Amino acid sequence: MRILVTGGAGFIGSHFARMMCERADVERVVVFDALTYAGNLNSILDLEDSPKFKFCLGRIQDEVAVHEVLGSEKVSHMVNFAAETHNDRSLLDVGSFIQTNVFGVHILFEATRKFGLQRMLHVSTDEVYGSTLSGTFTEQSPLEPNTPYSASKAGGDLQCRGHFVAFETPVVVTRGGNNYGPYQYPEKLIPFFATRLLEGKKVPVYGDGSQVREWIHVLDHCEGIFVALQKGTDGEIYNIGDHNERQNMHVVKVLLEETQRDNSFVKHIEDPRKGAHDARYSMTTDKIEALGWHPSRNFETELLSTVNWYRNNPEWWKKIQAKPDYSDFVQRFYGASLGADL
Ligand code: TYD
Repeated sequence: MRILVTGGAGFIGSHFARMMCERADVERVVVFDALTYAGNLNSILDLEDSPKFKFCLGRIQDEVAVHEVLGSEKVSHMVNFAAETHNDRSLLDVGSFIQTNVFGVHILFEATRKFGLQRMLHVSTDEVYGSTLSGTFTEQSPLEPNTPYSASKAGGDLQCRGHFVAFETPVVVTRGGNNYGPYQYPEKLIPFFATRLLEGKKVPVYGDGSQVREWIHVLDHCEGIFVALQKGTDGEIYNIGDHNERQNMHVVKVLLEETQRDNSFVKHIEDPRKGAHDARYSMTTDKIEALGWHPSRNFETELLSTVNWYRNNPEWWKKIQAKPDYSDFVQRFYGASLGADL
């Protein structure tokens, strides 16, 4: 396999690229990444030592750049991680989400067809299903996205179906739960809160924190993606989740304990997502498990390891914090509600 990993300098993509470099049955691993705010060469520095690894700078919206890398690297498989992924940012700027998650994905599907790739796997999210208080989403559940982010991801997913039905393009979609682990950009709940608590800052819980997320360790997710890439069926969708449903406040309490902070470090703020805040995500995973994949990592143990990773790698996240984009976003999004606690 000669794999193009689009978005491979981001959180999940960087773990997947590393996993591919370690596999004997993968001959070439090319990371194609635009290095937008969430792409980070420091997350893939170690891969430079692998003779099968190459980095290419480029945006998935750029057809010429995508065609250039597919042709010159004789790519056989592509896995798309490139995306704008943060719900809160999508409330501030919808356009960039449509550009990357809808138009960019269109460029990748067309290129898959044009270059006759053996398979393209598009990485999506359980958020396309919307929220369910008591049910569990199957791959057949209707798409009812509730934020500009999840709506843009649903737009990408539906193009997969359109391409497969109309052109028999060999595409597979995976929908993952909420990921956690090392190298996650510190704007999502776990790394944002872990880094703030390590620094002795308060954490902003939206509303009462009763929302439920289904957590999966990033390496379990990447293993599932590879199984779907190898053994999935063209045109099919595979949920990849680990059934670790936890209320946000449960996760926050573990983070407080692990960083030796008390409840005074929690600040409940007015929910900035308002009606668009999904109450609960939950998925069935029978379909991917029938292909032989099973998650193996324990949520509580790995959450502690993740906090320890942030504790032991401050140079990785402090470099991010020092960039204007990060402080601008935190100021713009949390300035009013956190006030002096920012
Ligand atoms: P997040 O990590 O942004 O992922 P997603 O929106 O994709 O689920 O948020 C996870 C949950 O944590 C979600 O219910 C919103 C909540 N949350 C907060 O309460 N405060 C925060 O500062 C952030 C970033 C998230």
